[in-house]
Amino acid sequence: MPAHGSRAPSADRLPLCLVGCGGMGGRHLSAYAALAGVGHWHADLVAVYDIRADAANTMADAAEELLGRRPAVHTSLDGVLGDSRIAALDLVTDPASHHAVAVPALLAGRHVLSEKPLGLTMRACQAMVDAARRSGAVLATAENYRRGGANRMARTVVEAGLLGRPHLMVQLLVGGDDRVMITPWRHDKLHGSIALDMGVHLADLVEFYLGPVEIAYGLGLVAEPVRRTADDGRIQATGEDSLIGQLRTRSGVEVQLAYLPSGPGHRYVQRTIHGSAGSMTIPPDRTDGEVEVRRAGGVVTGAQLRSELTTSWALDDVTVALLGPDGTGGGAPFAEVDAGYLGVEIADFVAAVREGRAPEVDGARGARAVAVVLAILESGASGQPVRVDDVLSGAVHAYQEEIDDALGLSPSRETPRQPHSRQEVGTS
Ligand SMILES: NC(=O)c1ccc[n+]([C@@H]2O[C@H](COP(=O)([O-])OP(=O)(O)OC[C@H]3O[C@@H](n4cnc5c(N)ncnc54)[C@H](O)[C@@H]3O)[C@@H](O)[C@H]2O)c1
Repeated sequence: MPAHGSRAPSADRLPLCLVGCGGMGGRHLSAYAALAGVGHWHADLVAVYDIRADAANTMADAAEELLGRRPAVHTSLDGVLGDSRIAALDLVTDPASHHAVAVPALLAGRHVLSEKPLGLTMRACQAMVDAARRSGAVLATAENYRRGGANRMARTVVEAGLLGRPHLMVQLLVGGDDRVMITPWRHDKLHGSIALDMGVHLADLVEFYLGPVEIAYGLGLVAEPVRRTADDGRIQATGEDSLIGQLRTRSGVEVQLAYLPSGPGHRYVQRTIHGSAGSMTIPPDRTDGEVEVRRAGGVVTGAQLRSELTTSWALDDVTVALLGPDGTGGGAPFAEVDAGYLGVEIADFVAAVREGRAPEVDGARGARAVAVVLAILESGASGQPVRVDDVLSGAVHAYQEEIDDALGLSPSRETPRQPHSRQEVGTS
C-alpha cells in the first residue's frame, strides 16, 4: 500500500524521539549507546518525551552523557507531533497508553516502534495496526526475547527437522514471591497485568519456533492478591500474575504453558520441545546457555549441532557485533546482554524505516502475541477453549470489556459491536 503522509525511505540517520522515560526507557537508551559503540547506530535521538517533566529531563541528561548531545524535552504529545524534526517514535510508556500515543503519531506519518504488549486489548492493538495501514508508516513491536542466539538456533533446529515431527512444547516459569513485580501497574488489570506483560514474550516464542497458535484453553489468576512494595507497603492486585494454559498450534503441536511467578514453594524453569526424532532443551533467555538436542545416540550441542543443520544458520552483523558469534552475549553482565537484545530489535526498526521494508516483528505479529495470551484469559472467563482467530476478530471479548471501557475503546451503546476484519491483524 502506498504511503501517504509517512516519510519516504531514506539513507539519512533516522530522527527519533524516545517516548516514556521510566525503567525500560533507560534500557532503550543504553541500547542506543551499545549500537553506537559497535558502529550500528543509524538514528539520531533528537527528543525525549514523558508526561513527567522530571523523568524526561533526567533522561535527556543521561542521553547527553551517553550519546554526546542533549535531546529536546517534550512533556506533551502535541509538542512531539508539532516537532517537525521527529520522524519516528520509540514508544516505551506503560502499555495502557501505547495506542493513545501511537495512533495519532502514526496518522501524523511518524513511524513507531512500540514496546510489547502492543496494546492491552484487541481493540487497542487493532487501532494501532489500522492507523499504520492507513498512513503507510512502519509499526514495529519491540519483542526482544526472540533476538538471542539460542532462540534463533532453536527455531532453526525445528525448521531443519532435527526433532522429527514436533509433538509437544513445555514452557514452565514457576515460583516467586509476593513482592511487586517491577512496577505497581503490572498488578492492575486496567493498566496491564504481569500475566499479559510476560505472557506475550512466551506467546511470541511459541509462534517463533512452531508457527501460529490456533486454540487455547486455560486461565489467568491472581496467585498473590496482596503484593509488598519496596518500602514494605501493600497493594491489592487486580491484574492476573499467572497464566496456565494448553495451546494447540495450527501445525498440531500441543504446548503446555505455565507462568506462575508467586508463592514460597518450588522454583522451576523449563523450555523444551519434544518430537518423533528427539527433544530439545532451550536455555533461559539472556543467558549464555546452549541449545541441547537429545536423541537415541546422545546429546548434541554447540558446533556439532550447527554442523548438522541443513538450513543455514547465520546471525546478522548487528547481532554478532552486539552479542558475539553465537548471539548469547558470552556470559557478559546482564545490562550488556540486555542492551544487546534491545539493540538488535531497535536496529531492525531503524533499518526497516530507512530501507522501506517491513520489520521482523510488525504490528500484526505483536497483536498476535497479545491475542494468544488473551485467548487463555478469555478461556478462563468462559470455561471454554477459545480460538485465537475469534479473539483477533473481536468475536470473543468478554474478558476485555472492562479494560476497553476503562481505555475508552468500547463502542457506544447505540453502535453494535462490529467484529474486526480478521485479515487486518490475523494473517501476518
Ligand atoms: N521487553 C522487555 O524485556 C521489557 C522489560 C520491561 C518493560 N518492558 C515494556 O516497556 C514498557 C514500559 O515499561 P516500564 O517498566 O519502563 O514502565 P515505567 O512505569 O517504569 O515507565 C513508563 C513511563 O512512561 C511514562 N508515560 C506514561 N504514559 C505516558 C504518555 N501517555 N505519554 C508519555 N509518557 C508516558 C510514565 O510517566 C513513565 O515515566 C511497557 O510496555 C513494558 O511492558 C519491556
